[in-house]
Parts: sequence; structure tokens; C-alpha cells
Amino acid sequence: MVSNPKRFMASPSLTKIAYQTLQGGKSLAGLAHKELSTKLMELLAPDAMPVTNPIPTELMKDLRGSMVALENLDWEEAEQGVYPVTQLFKAPWMEWAARYPLVWLDLPSTWERRKRRRTRDLPNQIDPDIYPDYYLQNFHHQTDGYLSDHSAELYDLQVEILFNGTADSMRRRILAPLKRGLKRFRHRKEASLRVLDVATGTGSTLKQIRGALPDIELLGLDLSRAYLRQASRYLNHRDGDLAQLIRGNAEQLPFANESMQGITCVFLLHELPWRARQNVLDECWRVLESGGVFVLADSIQISDSPKFSSLLDNFPKIFHEPYYKDYINDDIEKRLHSSGFTGVTAQSHFMTRVWTATKPSEGKKS
Ligand SMILES: C[S@@+](CC[C@H](N)C(=O)[O-])C[C@H]1O[C@@H](n2cnc3c(N)ncnc32)[C@H](O)[C@@H]1O
Repeated sequence: MVSNPKRFMASPSLTKIAYQTLQGGKSLAGLAHKELSTKLMELLAPDAMPVTNPIPTELMKDLRGSMVALENLDWEEAEQGVYPVTQLFKAPWMEWAARYPLVWLDLPSTWERRKRRRTRDLPNQIDPDIYPDYYLQNFHHQTDGYLSDHSAELYDLQVEILFNGTADSMRRRILAPLKRGLKRFRHRKEASLRVLDVATGTGSTLKQIRGALPDIELLGLDLSRAYLRQASRYLNHRDGDLAQLIRGNAEQLPFANESMQGITCVFLLHELPWRARQNVLDECWRVLESGGVFVLADSIQISDSPKFSSLLDNFPKIFHEPYYKDYINDDIEKRLHSSGFTGVTAQSHFMTRVWTATKPSEGKKS
């Protein structure tokens, strides 16, 4: 018999306090890690220190406010039933604990790469012909880029640290618009609906979608075999989180026209050159059924968050993000329209902007 997780939850206010405490702890851990690793870099690899804009106290306060707003919304949407409250507490805690020392052990090679401006330091055995050229780089100065199991095993923890424990809360912002959009197909059985997560990485978004929509058919696509292997370990276990994982290029999706009712894409666009960015949006439009919903999440941009522009400016100074500067000045709404999407809306949540768009029922590009 499947047990009801709600039975094990304390009263809503106690659970909210537990959630806030957990988030506070994650945030402190992320800040402490960054503080310590910066000090260590100053000491051991001063040449690798990036030169960044100073962040004024006022801006830090704004940032903190925006983080608290994200946390509150994350809680409210759980209470409204967009996803189970239990999802707020789920994470591969034991794996993260076991891998945390590896994050430290990996730092010196990251510093070395930054210092020597080595951005194409990839495993020898990869076949470069099966990847687009822009992909063959060490994004974030990451060891092996996206192309090894070592990189895939550290990725989630590194992202959690980078965003002070808010990465999953930011990803979850796609769930409410996705569920609203899928209501257009309410006359069909949920099990007949297909949702594709493009550039799924290690599967965090798929896991969240499965929690919110237990019966739909889920698919995830990514260019990295290693990341998909990690996603498979994370998702396809006996609790029944089954998702199909497909290796492929988001610029040429290996799916038939109009074969999905929902598509999501989280944290991909800022890592693509401008032409590839448009190709991905065009492909999502092609594969989506008329009336289907597309939910896109990525970094905030200068136009929607001008007060954070010095922070956005710092990001590619610290991490190898060759297309980020172009991305934060790009007009994504215009791109979505030029792919053929309509009803485009967008909202920012802490460091993430979420666009929702529809493929019009007549299905023709304007
Ligand atoms: C920053 S990660 C985001 C992963 C995941 N969506 C998340 O929320 O953590 C970017 C992902 O995009 C994948 N990727 C980059 N270019 C791609 C492309 N052209 N087609 C498919 N996947 C791609 C990478 O392999 C990586 O897993």
C-alpha cells in the first residue's frame, strides 16, 4: 500500500518553520563555502582571483529580499497543491554529503583552468563530431565540461552552493504555469499527455514535474550521456519516477511535429550562442502540439532586473560563461514571437526569469 506522506507532516505552520530553517541552513552553508573557498584561492592561487564589481550593502539587502520572496512563493504554491509539500524537503542528502569533499578536491583544477584561460580542457576519449562546437567548453570552468560522470556527480551540489540553496526553488517556478497550460488538454486523460524537459541535465526538473503531475508521460533530453546517466540514477528507481531519457541536440529535437503537449527548458539558453538559442525555441515550437504550453526558465536579464546588473556583470567574470553577456541583453520575448509562440508572459523570481508561451491553436507561424 502506498503511504500518504501528508500523515507524517506536522501542522502547516510548523512545517513552514521547518522549511524556512532548512532554506536558511542551505543559504548559510552556500555562503560559508564561497567565503572559505575564496579565502583559500587568495592564499593558494591568487592569480586565479577574478576582478569583479563590488556589491554595495543596499544591493545585498535587495538580493536577500528577493530570495525571501522566492521562498515564500515556494511555500505558498506547495500549500495550494501545485506540488506536494514534501517536495520542499527532498534532495539527495546522503549523496551530497558523500560528494562534498570532492567539490573541494576539484577546486585547484578549476583555479588552474581559470588562471591559464583554458576553456577547452575536455576528456580525450570524447568524440567531438557528435557535439556542436559551442558545447565543447568547460562551462563554469567545470572539470570535463558536461562530458564526464565526475562532472555529472558534482553538478547538483555545485549549483546548490552557487545559488545558496535556492536552485530547486527557482526550478519549481515552472510548475504552476506548466500545470495551468496543460489544462487546455483537460478533456484528455493525464496519462496520455507528454511533457518534454529540454536540456534536462541530471533530471532535477523532471523529478519536480513528476511530483506535480504523477501520471503524465515524461521525457528528458540532453547532449550529455554522463548527465543522463546521473538523471537515470536519480529518477528511475522503484518508487516509479519513470522518465524516458534521450541523448540529443535541442537544436534538432528527435521528436515528431506536434508530439508534446508541454515543453520545459531550464537554465539552457544562457549557455547557447544566439543562433542556437533561436534554433532551440523554433524546435520547441515545432514539437509542441497546437494549444500546448512552453515554459522556459533562465537567468534574469538586464531589462527586467536593472538593479542587479553589477551582479549579472560579475557572473561571467567568475565563471566561464562565454554567451552569458549576450544572453542577458537578448530579447527572449521577441525570439519566442518570431518562433510563432503567442500569449507570452514572464516573471522574475530571485535570479531566475520564467517565460510562459503557447503554440496557437491554428498552429501556423505568424
Ligand atoms: C546549466 S545545465 C542545466 C541543466 C538542467 N536543466 C538544470 O536545471 O540543472 C545546461 C544543460 O544543457 C545541456 N545542453 C547544452 N547544450 C545543449 C544542446 N544543444 N542540446 C541539448 N542539451 C544541451 C548540457 O549538457 C547541460 O546538461
